[in-house]
Amino acid sequence: DMTFLKLSICCLEERYAFLTEWYDPTAALLRRYQLFYYPKDSSVEMFDVKNQRIFLRRTKYEDLHQEDLFVGNRVNVFSRQLNLIEYGDQYTANKLGSKKERTLAVIKPDVITKIGDVLELIYSSNLIVTKAKMVTLTWKQAADFYVEHQSKPFFNNLVQFVSSGPVVAMELMGDEAMSTWRRLLGPADSAVARKEAPQSIRAQFGTDGIKNVGHGSDSFAAAARELEFFFPSTIGHGPSNTAILTDCTCCIIKTHAISEGLTGKILNSISAAGFEISALQMFNVDRANAEEFYEVYKGVVAEYPSMVTELCSGPCMVLEIHGTDVPQSFRELCGPVDPEISRHLRPTTLRALYGKDKVKNAVHCTDMPEDGVLEVQYFFKILDW
Ligand code: TYD
Ligand code: MG
Repeated sequence: DMTFLKLSICCLEERYAFLTEWYDPTAALLRRYQLFYYPKDSSVEMFDVKNQRIFLRRTKYEDLHQEDLFVGNRVNVFSRQLNLIEYGDQYTANKLGSKKERTLAVIKPDVITKIGDVLELIYSSNLIVTKAKMVTLTWKQAADFYVEHQSKPFFNNLVQFVSSGPVVAMELMGDEAMSTWRRLLGPADSAVARKEAPQSIRAQFGTDGIKNVGHGSDSFAAAARELEFFFPSTIGHGPSNTAILTDCTCCIIKTHAISEGLTGKILNSISAAGFEISALQMFNVDRANAEEFYEVYKGVVAEYPSMVTELCSGPCMVLEIHGTDVPQSFRELCGPVDPEISRHLRPTTLRALYGKDKVKNAVHCTDMPEDGVLEVQYFFKILDW
């Protein structure tokens, strides 16, 4: 590509280049752009590959961070979600691509209520969670997942345990994600873990050789197969979510809170307050869906446009909170919309603890009790079709 070459040669300033794809919902097409990022002044530039012209002139854009720039990740540039599909040049590949991996982590049924603690450990190891979904596997699905162990004596017990209740599957990304997550987990037998790796997750939260908290892929081939099992990129849908869709309310851990690494803390606060998380999933909401979801606030709340932009600026995590009269009691845990007011009036609420301003206020929760089911359905039935 000559244009690309010329651009690369003339730039002495440090610049990272990517080939990206953006799904254009209006035209129902995948469009390809070259994305350039200039770390010196945090500016971006986009080049339309098909039409061979500048699409976005170099513009300052401080919401994009160098640590988010690696192949396989999805970034947001001025409300467009771009999939980074290839490094645009060798320099970028060498500088940013060397050790980034993705792996599958599964939180097993024994510790599903400790998901917040586990996420805290994941974030403190510099891994990020790029996909997450709570599912309950059938016996057959669990047996397929563990096919490599089918001739082992513990196979039946293992499959029985893993299909005995909800699990949370996650895609983790980061430097040496696979070995980092397996090191965090520790030895398979929790008793051995307590002796040999007392800081490990299995040592801290595990019970025995079967009830051992988590699973981690053990090779690149396994990671690819196992990620495809839970998060299929081509055909099929993977295991279904666990939403109950009655007696529930909707909580969204907002994108700013996710990118600030607050997910684990927020989940811990929700569990500590005694709420049952009956479904959990990360979504990349596009602008049209964000507008539709927040429709009731349009023309009513001055922050509506910023709320839409916030919701589609990266992955968010949606929860179904289950229980009697839960919309009301869960709203009380969230606190007043404005975190400043929350900090004065209700300092232990989620927004007081984790919010920044009226838009970046850590969590969305359903307003009207009768909307709880509808909001949960919007994510777990309509968007996760
Ligand atoms: P394995 O792949 O050896 O461990 P890891 O989960 O660390 O990759 O085994 C898979 C699962 O099978 C393990 O998490 C728990 C269960 N298991 C037993 O129940 N008994 C055993 O003796 C072993 C080796 C594993
Ligand atoms: Mg294994």
